[in-house]
Amino acid sequence: MAAAYRCGRDKNRDGEGVTSKMNRKRYETPMPGKSTGFDYEEWTGSLDKESLKRVMQTYYDERAEEYIDWFLRTGLYDRPETNEPFLRGLRELEEVVEAFGAGRVLDIACGIGWWTSLLARHATGVVALDYAPGMLRECRRRLALNGVTVDLVRGSAYQLPYADDTFDGAFIGLFVSHVPREDVAAFLTEVGRVVRPGGRVLIVDSTLPELDDVQEELQKRPLRSGATYPALKVYYGEAGLSRALAPFAQHLRVRTVESLFVMATYRVPGAS
Ligand SMILES: C[S@@+](CC[C@H](N)C(=O)[O-])C[C@H]1O[C@@H](n2cnc3c(N)ncnc32)[C@H](O)[C@@H]1O
Repeated sequence: MAAAYRCGRDKNRDGEGVTSKMNRKRYETPMPGKSTGFDYEEWTGSLDKESLKRVMQTYYDERAEEYIDWFLRTGLYDRPETNEPFLRGLRELEEVVEAFGAGRVLDIACGIGWWTSLLARHATGVVALDYAPGMLRECRRRLALNGVTVDLVRGSAYQLPYADDTFDGAFIGLFVSHVPREDVAAFLTEVGRVVRPGGRVLIVDSTLPELDDVQEELQKRPLRSGATYPALKVYYGEAGLSRALAPFAQHLRVRTVESLFVMATYRVPGAS
């Protein structure tokens, strides 16, 4: 039976969304079309995990053109109280991501390719994968503007379309927090399958100030159009992320950046 995602807050703290009280009927109607939006208020009930993943694809498709606002802290994401630490944290992470690029790297759930360009500076090859066509379109456009060439692939992060040990490293930006907790082990196993033993993984995600463990929320995500979508967000603090990654990781390091981001690096076990 479906997981019932419960809402935990009604105030926006990270600029990503607001949660609201949920009703009780299961979401069973077809997924909304591109211009229809998702009538959050009409959505009455718990949303099963797989339906939620599909709704999020529509959400990210529709959000693709305005996703840049999140990085620039503009539009819906202009939060005077956190813009400065956010941008400081972002700059720090950009350096880490750029330095991470080496060998053949898979950018999992690449979105608009903000990090992809940085990875591509030093990597010998980058494959950027996402399942939302709108995100891939935007990513292609941005990479072309930056004069960056990478392979763009539509695919599922949960079933990566690659043979074992294909990559020297994987980068996962702001996606682990969208993976249902019960799927995290399978997801990390999949990452470890396509990255060679001894290969490196870099995870970057948003977190909540002073969170050490894990906080799961179903958020109400607004778009400029006025449409709102539900999105699962699992915030990890240092302890929570360390615990989730430990079974899949060697030389694991986890740290908070500017209290709004958390990052982790590790090596895939099994190298001789
Ligand atoms: C929060 S965005 C992060 C995008 C990018 N990594 C970044 O940091 O800007 C989450 C991304 O995950 C993608 N995504 C969500 N579920 C996915 C799945 N099952 N397989 C592949 N991509 C997925 C969305 O389309 C979206 O681009």
